[in-house]
Amino acid sequence: MASKQITDRAVNHVWKYPDAKLISLGIGDTTEPIPHVIASSMIDYVQALSTPEGYRGYGAEQGNKELRKAIAQKFYKDTGITDTEVFVSDGAQCDISRLQLLLGSNVTTAVQDPSFPAYTDSSVIIGQAGDFDDRNQKYRNIEYMSCGPQTHFFPDLSITPRTDIIFFCSPNNPTGHAASRVQLQQLVEFAHKNGSIIVYDSAYAVYITDDSPRSIFEIPGAKEVAIEISSFSKFAGFTGVRLGWTVVPKELRLSNGFPIINDFNRIVCTCFNGASRISQAGGLASLSSDGFKAARSRIDYYMANAKILLDAFASLGLKVYGGTNAPYVWVHFPGLSSWDVFNMILEKTHIITVPGSGFGPGGEEYMRISAFGNRKTIVEATRRLESLLP
Ligand SMILES: Cc1ncc(COP(=O)(O)O)c(C=O)c1O
Repeated sequence: MASKQITDRAVNHVWKYPDAKLISLGIGDTTEPIPHVIASSMIDYVQALSTPEGYRGYGAEQGNKELRKAIAQKFYKDTGITDTEVFVSDGAQCDISRLQLLLGSNVTTAVQDPSFPAYTDSSVIIGQAGDFDDRNQKYRNIEYMSCGPQTHFFPDLSITPRTDIIFFCSPNNPTGHAASRVQLQQLVEFAHKNGSIIVYDSAYAVYITDDSPRSIFEIPGAKEVAIEISSFSKFAGFTGVRLGWTVVPKELRLSNGFPIINDFNRIVCTCFNGASRISQAGGLASLSSDGFKAARSRIDYYMANAKILLDAFASLGLKVYGGTNAPYVWVHFPGLSSWDVFNMILEKTHIITVPGSGFGPGGEEYMRISAFGNRKTIVEATRRLESLLP
């Protein structure tokens, strides 16, 4: 697993250079504090829990009604998605695995290549993936849909075999590409034609700056073929607080006509038991007018970091992608192994990055650079990166 290898190499590096000030541009974790207006709502909630009037025990497994409504209103306003189709969770990653439990081991699965590793790893755990083939670095039963610059970071659907499930992330981690409306229309059409279910991950939708869709449900016909998972992690700095949601439209049915929302509800009631009430109070505050504004300012901050990093890598003469609709910059090092580039950057600059191959074989020759970080550190990183100039 790339994250373990990265940590090991960072530890070794610190042993080797005890005085080096290591900078991490590797983490996909938020670094700036949660805005006060959001944090104080959680403090108030916790305080109320210590009073007889304010104490609450278990909540609804599907989430607090008010929060479900606020999510439907804020993120799905013109799509017809209602609060009863929104399931509040403890994060998108946990819902990916709970969905896999619902889908079981007998389904075929496609992922973008490169993509967030949890899709493939959860497919492996549930038994969908088959053996790993060392020669091509792929699991035999997983369909890797190549999504590089040559295909505008979108799969060539004319050569993509039918699968039961298609994991699709937009904006994509690691490439930073947000799928266009036309691309998503093609994807929805493809799923309809094949009777496939799209599991759409919109964890970075709030980072989109152009007119790319923020949700798959902006696409007509998506409700019959898609589930959407999303998160407060990168939106409100809740990576440690833990809060997310999944939308399962009522229209989505199995081939025998059974509504999948009923199955998902059963999974949520059995394998989960509702998100923390405290996190949900924070989530609700982040969707208030002041909370949203404050969360937005953090997003703008990270995106300004992304612009600094984009410019820095471009000035090294490298081809760079992403960074405008997502807090990730995707840098091409043609002909080089991404682990070799990782080692070279670490050795020369004491900066941690993420080798693209950690996101699938399609990430080879690329590095993912994270814009999450304090501005001073980002600026210092760009200064150090100049030493990579030939
Ligand atoms: C694409 C994507 N989906 C989901 C997650 C996990 O989100 P959460 O913190 O809500 O579990 C991440 C985290 O980095 C991510 O990059």
